[in-house]
Amino acid sequence: MCGIVGYVGPRRATPILLEGLKRLEYRGYDSAGIAVGLAGSASEEGGAKGAPKASGNRLQVIKKIGKIAALRAVVPKDLPGDWGIGHTRWATHGGVTDANAHPHLDASGKIAVVHNGIIENYRPLREMLEKDGVRFASETDTEVIPNLIARYYEGDLEAAVKAALGHFEGTYGIAVIHADHPGLIVGARNGSPLVVGVGEGEMLLASDVTAMISHTRQVVYLNDGEVVVIEPSGYRTTGRDDRPVDKKVDQVTWELNNIEKGDYPCYMEKEIFEQPESIARALSGRIDRETASAKLGGLNLDKRRLREVGRVHVIAAGTSWHAGLVGAGLLESLARIPASAELASELRYRNPVVEKDSLWFAVSQSGETADTLYAMREIQRKGGTVLGVCNVVGSTIARESEGGVYVHSGPEIAVASTKAFTSQLAALYLFTLQQARMRDLSMEEGLRFIEALEAVPGAVKKVLGGRDELQRIAKKYSHATDFLFLGRGLMYPIALEGALKLKEISYIHAEGYASGEIKHGPIALVSPEVPSVFVVPDDGLREKTISNMREIKARGGPVIAIGVEGDGEVASIADDFFGVPKGDPRFYPFTMIVPLQLIAYFCALELGRDVDQPRNLAKSVTVE
Ligand code: M6R
Repeated sequence: MCGIVGYVGPRRATPILLEGLKRLEYRGYDSAGIAVGLAGSASEEGGAKGAPKASGNRLQVIKKIGKIAALRAVVPKDLPGDWGIGHTRWATHGGVTDANAHPHLDASGKIAVVHNGIIENYRPLREMLEKDGVRFASETDTEVIPNLIARYYEGDLEAAVKAALGHFEGTYGIAVIHADHPGLIVGARNGSPLVVGVGEGEMLLASDVTAMISHTRQVVYLNDGEVVVIEPSGYRTTGRDDRPVDKKVDQVTWELNNIEKGDYPCYMEKEIFEQPESIARALSGRIDRETASAKLGGLNLDKRRLREVGRVHVIAAGTSWHAGLVGAGLLESLARIPASAELASELRYRNPVVEKDSLWFAVSQSGETADTLYAMREIQRKGGTVLGVCNVVGSTIARESEGGVYVHSGPEIAVASTKAFTSQLAALYLFTLQQARMRDLSMEEGLRFIEALEAVPGAVKKVLGGRDELQRIAKKYSHATDFLFLGRGLMYPIALEGALKLKEISYIHAEGYASGEIKHGPIALVSPEVPSVFVVPDDGLREKTISNMREIKARGGPVIAIGVEGDGEVASIADDFFGVPKGDPRFYPFTMIVPLQLIAYFCALELGRDVDQPRNLAKSVTVE
């Protein structure tokens, strides 16, 4: 969703801000803008009480709807900018207009603010300010922030920001600059991430490390309730009550090329093709052949506690929820632990029962999804233990959970999640193995499971070799307006995920269903114009799924089957067939999702869609 970047230091701020915004594009946005401070000449007079002695400083704000390229086109080439802030906006309050884009200024034009999140009580604040004569230039909730800061400003920007924060209900990550405070940015966080980038004689502030990784790898993650002041010489963090807060400097471990496309036309294709390596990374160092189990030290739970787990719940959204559904299914069947995957947005408001022996997993690629985070906090409030399964290191969910597993897929830039999904599966499979081995899975069965798990990256690589065939299939059907995706057992969540991938990047309407459900309604949709994609492995449910395929064929519906190599019967029923390498049926979720990712990708390409940044979507959904 929205993105923030800020810079103070000896270099020109403008190009650094524009580059940072470009790197934040993947989060999804519809307008962008920058505010840079232009230093005037020094003065003996000084401004308001306590303000630094400076005069003639001014802020220049430039903002534009559309892509960063549109903003870049209206930013004067030689605009210096001695310090500044930038923003990518994903509209919530107020339409997509230049006026609603951030940064927003206070009425005097001296204070500029960029804001991620939502100020829920902005209406009464706006009315109060309007009564005092403030005229607003936008329809946003954000514009109350600079105006309220201005009301408290008496020369100390940090103090004014802290005083204003006391009025806001809702969520925010903000960066604030003042014309009379050259080289200084105040940031504050409550529910929307902010990270400080520590450079040599320069400092950055951003909502996401990708915005500053080309300048520094040393970062400091802010927590809710913290305020930071950055200046070229350093940073200081305090609570809103002025109490100093000591922060640890973390080192970003991934490389710049992880967030660049390389030779691929799109991030999504790159990320699909990275899966053999990303799955291997998720497994690396976590398999213990000696005990035929998994080593997951980050869970922070002792053996007794792990053995006593009576029920597992996964909390997640979107693709991560689908990974959770697969994980829960496997846990039940292999470790015999009752397990379920819950939609975070529903769970939070359901007043969930939190049993003492339950273990909760918050599964999230970004680790910032508001629905998942709030659901997790609700469970924690009721005494539940929540572990995180996250990709982004240092993300809020990772930091607020009692322990967990990083999936190590590397930065995922395309809005449509692909490699994070298979890495989440890897983490959940490892946890299942550990639980099963603590219960009644034999050493021999444990070793067989490990062998099959270690074979996954190779099998995924083979599937990727079928790229051209999958492109052919996608081309043939890309002009359909509706698709059905069908599977049973562990393949049901794979069908859901296949449908989600197709709809989000190609905008083709797609429904995922359990194959057994089609006769209860969806079969009415079947026609020669509506292709059905079946995921049909050689497991105990194969015959049942074949019957469902025949039901569709009998009604004139085209069938695409993703099955197992050499399955002549499935191939003969389907109009188009793609086979994945034969293997242990429990591991087909890894291999069978890949053809669905590629079919969705090639359909979107065929239709000329913006694959990496589909309309209306954001990579990290930080509002409810
Ligand atoms: O970052 P998260 O895994 O928590 O995100 C959850 C969903 O927003 C995400 O999976 C979304 O559904 C993707 N667009 C799927 O491709």
